Amino acid sequence: MTERQILVAANWKMNGTLETIRPLMKSIIEGVQGVTTEVAICPPSVFIAELAANLDGSEIKLGAQNVSQLEKGAYTGEISVSMLKDFACQYVIVGHSERRALYAEKDLLVAEKFIAVQASGMVPILCVGELLEEREANDTETVIARQLDAVIELAGIEAFKNAVVAYEPVWAIGTGKTATPEQAQEVHEFIRLRLARHDNQTADIVRILYGGSVNAGNAEQLFKMADIDGGLIGGASLVAEDFLTICKAMR
Ligand code: 13P
Repeated sequence: MTERQILVAANWKMNGTLETIRPLMKSIIEGVQGVTTEVAICPPSVFIAELAANLDGSEIKLGAQNVSQLEKGAYTGEISVSMLKDFACQYVIVGHSERRALYAEKDLLVAEKFIAVQASGMVPILCVGELLEEREANDTETVIARQLDAVIELAGIEAFKNAVVAYEPVWAIGTGKTATPEQAQEVHEFIRLRLARHDNQTADIVRILYGGSVNAGNAEQLFKMADIDGGLIGGASLVAEDFLTICKAMR
């Protein structure tokens, strides 16, 4: 089995102003020194330039929360992969449940974004996850299989060699409810097996992050599970001390 390096990625969502993100960023940059985990920050797009300037020389990777699937043109309000590349972004979150639910992003669009990110040389963080009613109806695996298969179909299994998957149960996002480590592990294992149906080696190397109310108190237990390779952190990534504790949580 491959030793997969833990990745902890902050998703700041639509939070912060220059006044609040500057000290947050400074504390994180200082606090992660010497940490063996890979750390990434996905700020709101307007702050990407600010972070790019400050992360220069730091080990922290820069990411974006969303991107257009299209190259360029008359698409008011959209941001292209080449714009993100200009600021040395390395990761882009695609298919976050908030994008799927609030901005009607469908599986096919998510797959197109995944491809656009990879084609530009960045790494997509593909989010998958079920709603509460889907879990209660025992549909978790069906939903996740559908979300994964849409991307495998369009991008091919090989593409996952250069991608990260994030399992984010929608019922655990921003609610303070976390999947238990066992509940999360069960779905992470399912995701890996689903990829392994196409290619064992790819399934073995792809990192699968857990997202959904990860905090300073539960990160370590979650990251100890065999198929959990880190976290995509929302609320707790806005508090430097909590985020740093999560970055230091080891397998
Ligand atoms: P919370 O950590 O705030 O639950 O958010 C999780 C998430 O959506 C990360 O992308």
